[in-house]
Amino acid sequence: MKYQLIAFDAYGTLLDVFAVTASAEQLFPGHGKSLSQLWRDKQLEYTRLISLADPNAEGSQHYQSFWDITIAALRFSCKQLKLNLTRENEAQLLQQYAHLDPFTESKQVLGEVKRMGLKTCVLSNGNTEMLSTALGHSQLKEYFDAVISVDEARQFKITPASYQLVLKHFSVAKDQVLFISCNAWDIIGANWFGFDTFWVNRYLLPFEEIGLKPRYSGENLNALLPNIKTTP
Ligand code: LAC
Repeated sequence: MKYQLIAFDAYGTLLDVFAVTASAEQLFPGHGKSLSQLWRDKQLEYTRLISLADPNAEGSQHYQSFWDITIAALRFSCKQLKLNLTRENEAQLLQQYAHLDPFTESKQVLGEVKRMGLKTCVLSNGNTEMLSTALGHSQLKEYFDAVISVDEARQFKITPASYQLVLKHFSVAKDQVLFISCNAWDIIGANWFGFDTFWVNRYLLPFEEIGLKPRYSGENLNALLPNIKTTP
């Protein structure tokens, strides 16, 4: 088999970030969807601002944890949508974000991958503590040989320094790594870095118009298994 290591993005790939939509809708009727979408977009935009402003190999001087960025993005999004985010509402939404549920197939697919004898890791923008809480809550932690946070590089994906962390933890060649993400931008970054990729296209989106297309894609993680089994 070609691959030695299967590397997973976390938020949106293994953990359902849009699970917060229902709570947001309950707190702000009629705005749940727009709030959760803007919150996610803003969170990612902040990561890019930070890494682009100072793409230093030693880490960005503007780096702050993904958790702090998540809070800042929530506050901004409520301001933009003119929603009154009380302290209690904020605490409730953040509490849920910290304890996201896995997608229904995450556990079973990870179990199969481990049974195939492959190494596995997470590479996420999430900071170490956040990942530990989320993967503990979702009971996914045990399926990984390493949980890697970009905290180590103080650079967010899609900087090369962030993907390089995978090779720091595992002695494998780039083309022996299959990187899996639901985010098309993350697939492009990983591809440009030199990993093979599997795009989990949960929301049936078109792929981006720039960058390399993923080697594989599917609507959920189940589509991964037949592909890795048959790749020579
Ligand atoms: C992750 C987010 C960005 O890195 O999906 O886990």
